[in-house]
Amino acid sequence: MKRYLTTPIYYASGSPHLGHAYTTLVADCYKRFYRSRGDEVMLTTGTDEHGQKNERAAARAGLSVERFVEGISREFAGLWEALGLAVDRFERTTLPTHERMVQEFWRRLSAAGEIYLGEYEGLYCIDCEQYFTEGETCPVHGRPLERFAEPSYFFRLGRYRRALIDHIKAHPEFILPEVRRREALSFLEGNELRDLSISRASTKWGVPVPGDGDHVMYVWVDALLAYVTAICQGEERAFDDARIAGWWADTTHFIGKDILTFHAVYWPAMLLAAGLPLPARLVVNGWLTVEGRKIAKSDPVTIVDPAELAHGVGRDGLRWYFLRTVSLGQDCNYSREHLVEVVNADLANNIGNLYSRVCQMLAKGYPEGATRANEFARDDVRLLERAVACRDSVEAGFAAANPAQGARSVVELSAEINTYVQQQKPWSLPDPKRRETVLWVLWHALHDLSCLAEPFLPETIAKARKCLALSVEAHWGDIGVRRERVFARRSGAIFPRIRG
Ligand code: MSP
Repeated sequence: MKRYLTTPIYYASGSPHLGHAYTTLVADCYKRFYRSRGDEVMLTTGTDEHGQKNERAAARAGLSVERFVEGISREFAGLWEALGLAVDRFERTTLPTHERMVQEFWRRLSAAGEIYLGEYEGLYCIDCEQYFTEGETCPVHGRPLERFAEPSYFFRLGRYRRALIDHIKAHPEFILPEVRRREALSFLEGNELRDLSISRASTKWGVPVPGDGDHVMYVWVDALLAYVTAICQGEERAFDDARIAGWWADTTHFIGKDILTFHAVYWPAMLLAAGLPLPARLVVNGWLTVEGRKIAKSDPVTIVDPAELAHGVGRDGLRWYFLRTVSLGQDCNYSREHLVEVVNADLANNIGNLYSRVCQMLAKGYPEGATRANEFARDDVRLLERAVACRDSVEAGFAAANPAQGARSVVELSAEINTYVQQQKPWSLPDPKRRETVLWVLWHALHDLSCLAEPFLPETIAKARKCLALSVEAHWGDIGVRRERVFARRSGAIFPRIRG
């Protein structure tokens, strides 16, 4: 099965921070989970480079906007690499191929009668790149709204209200978690849904509207289209419906709750208007906060540099903490002390130590490999069954947009394996056959644990699998497969304790 995963394309108005890293690492975790199950997966991210927000940031930095966004875009691409996130496509909205395809999309909507020229007057927040109908300050940024009045092209968004409500009602999994689905529904049911202003005459920094040199496209139209133009990247042909359809059937957009309306209302309406299929689901995360305040460029004291953090606590330490502790959809307050506590308890003391100990006993006692030397005891069967049953819980977590459930099951399984080691005491078993059987059982439990934990801890598990003398990558289908003879190698610490 083909799975297409996207992160938002991040504004190139400032350096990446932990909030951006969080959404991307959730997407990466899903990618690894699907890939391990044998799916063909593509993960797209990128940078959103047009619009007044970026233009103003460049002016503040005293650079041309082109040079400024280029530099920030590189920082984002560099961060994904530094964090070891397996991104396949990096779309920049200033790429000529992207701009051409966006114009083609516009022409298509225009030809279908979905766009008309009118006049817009309203209050605007440049940080959100969004119009508001009332209020003096932006509800997200708390800054004064600016009044704009200008001719504008409009998209006939209002037409799609009923279709969107019907779609969301008919597809409970379209917006996850449920609280965001209800929010989108009540927005649609409680508002008349006015047509959307989709061009700007007050700036030149955008994709030119085809046939009207006075306007550039509204940055959100240009940005949302990156999800499809990324699929066509590098192709001679511009907007390729067949190629898009090839990837689109199981699309997941990972987004933050701040951009729900754009993805649950504007984007599906644009797709419907162009005769394109809708994404399968939106997975909506909450905010990471520092001392209760959203991590945001506009609030410098909240900024945490993800590369620096990963340097100190390890890439797996960073991803584990957020994947395991954040109930996706809810806000989570970040503190380094808590991170260090959780990571040392789960990775150094529990999972890492377990692999080192068991592999050491196996490698030392059974250099020619261990087999199942006699009948299973009840505890052996129970442990092996638990390892297999954990698969259902991890799968259910991913399906419910709650990877933390899976991460918790993984750590619980590891604790149960540790308990089994304590109870069986393989180092002091008098019967050599029983001892060999216990270590054979442990090898299999650790093997299954490695498959289950890989999406959350790719580097740690790569090391752990080396200790299990496995040369192939973790595969979901191998969970529960039992071997005749098993081997292990000694290793140093799988996950060394980190300092606070
Ligand atoms: N450019 C738009 C998205 C266009 S997608 C077609 C945008 N960019 S952004 O850089 O401001 O934020 C993008 C996303 O970053 C958010 O929606 C969210 O997923 C993530 N986050 C930014 N700050 C965050 C936190 N403090 N916490 C969690 N996620 C955060 O909006």
